Amino acid sequence: MKHFLSIYDHSKEDILEIIELASKIKKEAKVKNYIPYLQNQSLGMLFEKSSTRTRISFEVGIHQLGGQGLFLSSNDLQLGRGESMKDSARVMGRMIDMIMIRTFDQKVLDEFAKYSGVPVINGLTDKYHPVQLMADYLTMKEHGKTDNPIVAYIGDGNNMTHSWMMLAGKLGFELRIATPKGYEPWQEIIDDANELAKISGAKITYTNDPKVAVNGADVVTTDTWISMGQEEEKEERVKAFDGYMVDRDLMSLAKNDAIFLHCLPAYRGYEVSDEVFESHANVVFDEAENRLHAQKGIMVWLNAQKDK
Ligand code: CP
Ligand code: NVA
Repeated sequence: MKHFLSIYDHSKEDILEIIELASKIKKEAKVKNYIPYLQNQSLGMLFEKSSTRTRISFEVGIHQLGGQGLFLSSNDLQLGRGESMKDSARVMGRMIDMIMIRTFDQKVLDEFAKYSGVPVINGLTDKYHPVQLMADYLTMKEHGKTDNPIVAYIGDGNNMTHSWMMLAGKLGFELRIATPKGYEPWQEIIDDANELAKISGAKITYTNDPKVAVNGADVVTTDTWISMGQEEEKEERVKAFDGYMVDRDLMSLAKNDAIFLHCLPAYRGYEVSDEVFESHANVVFDEAENRLHAQKGIMVWLNAQKDK
């Protein structure tokens, strides 16, 4: 049985297979939305943080696959009153077929996966956001940006950055990361990415200059400067990220046909200007829609791995 806890855990072949499956399911859905790949299965969706896209894409996704989604907020569960993750995992695994979790610490997922006995999906942790990256890569594919692309990530070295590093490391493309000093990706992730790059041929570089990163890029992407759980650092972060907004001047350094991606929610006037966001909105909302198709791909793929 396999889980989907990080891109690091999967081979290049697995990742591309999930993308192909998501593409296929998306095409099929244009003709018929409801195809019961997961007939009568239940997906638990455990949230310890807020969500719009992740909740909707998984809940609608499992419904369209013939199953049922259960929204489980930690505020309403005994978990919120001190029941352990280990026990919650064992209970849920007895009744639910697959579980998606959005939480803070990646270790919670590891523990859940160890005890639940059913496939567990990472719906975002402080370390990674792998389900988002599957939608992002599907979007790159649809817009013709998967042939040796140069991807520039501008902003905070966070869960999105880490996930881009794992994807580039596995698939072997060029990723340039520009962060302010003190906001670089975690060292353990840099070490893992370097190891992966040795095998795949990926080129992953780090700079404090957004212009250096964006110069000649095919894909420019960013994320909020203030992730969930960092609200109290807002003032100092906004100061530290001065000069890191993806605006018209910065975007003009990328290739003429470069696309802009954003996992959303976007904060215009901070990590991206309103002008850049709106002029690339068609791709950004393709990316948001692709959460649905990519998440269906992951669930169908995981189900097929259960007996392997
Ligand atoms: N991009 C993303 O995961 O959005 P939500 O936080 O709304 O789920
Ligand atoms: N880095 C952001 C991503 C939101 C989808 C966060 O963790 O809040």
